[in-house]
Amino acid sequence: MGVFTDQIAVVTGASSGIGSAIARELAKHGATICLVGRRLDALDAVTRDIQKTSPASKYYAVELAQEGEIQQFAQDIQNTFNRVDILVHSAGVFSMGSIETTPVSNLDWQYAINVRAPYCLTQALLPALKRAQGQIVFINSSVGLQARATVGVYAATKHALRAIADSLRAEVNPAGVRVLSLYLGRTATPMQEAACKIESKPYLPQNLLQPEDIAAVVANTLSLPRSAEVTDIQIRPQMKPTR
Ligand SMILES: NC(=O)c1ccc[n+]([C@@H]2O[C@H](COP(=O)([O-])OP(=O)(O)OC[C@H]3O[C@@H](n4cnc5c(N)ncnc54)[C@H](OP(=O)(O)O)[C@@H]3O)[C@@H](O)[C@H]2O)c1
Repeated sequence: MGVFTDQIAVVTGASSGIGSAIARELAKHGATICLVGRRLDALDAVTRDIQKTSPASKYYAVELAQEGEIQQFAQDIQNTFNRVDILVHSAGVFSMGSIETTPVSNLDWQYAINVRAPYCLTQALLPALKRAQGQIVFINSSVGLQARATVGVYAATKHALRAIADSLRAEVNPAGVRVLSLYLGRTATPMQEAACKIESKPYLPQNLLQPEDIAAVVANTLSLPRSAEVTDIQIRPQMKPTR
């Protein structure tokens, strides 16, 4: 018996990086996972692996920029599982550029995936999460706390995500729902590899946070007794000792 046995966990961004590591970790501790992403081959591979320990887990191909697809997904998991205990928002997009030069279409795109989608999905699943006295996790970024040059658009979406998480926490705590935000530094995933390429920096995954580190923190925090609520966690790569 794992700590999340009989619990249903919805994880977005589960086809890659941090979301896939969180899905695996929650499944290892007994949860049944609804994996959300777009790439069928990647979703299928992660789900097959997870099904070895959590056979009822399923994947769902959802374009999170489409509100209709989010609503349909919420309906589908209600029909199949009729409960949701954990919702992890890990899907996200990132690009770089100055405010002076970044087209507003880029702002609209990042807003759609990083802010609007988690807002809509939270709304759609909130009745079920309240019934289960569930838990909601927002994967945020260090730049969601402190913006810096050339990441203004991404930082703006992550600041907005923080505001949504903070307001939501105050609204749903009385119903017994916990809300956690994680503010992450550079983590070894395809998103970070792409970021290094844009910055013309070498991608050195061994020097970065690992997706499994984040997954362990999420699982540990979600399994804390209900007398405690962890609201915000900042995690950054450990500085390597110089030799
Ligand atoms: N890596 C870092 O250094 C870092 C640092 C701070 C915060 N974060 C945050 O961590 C979260 C996870 O990032 P990651 O590093 O794991 O990135 P990743 O490996 O690129 O994974 C991104 C995930 O988001 C999904 N996704 C993107 N657009 C989507 C859309 N329109 N509809 C549905 N799903 C979509 C992707 O699904 P498909 O591939 O199937 O389309 C993929 O599963 C993000 O919120 C990111 O902002 C990352």
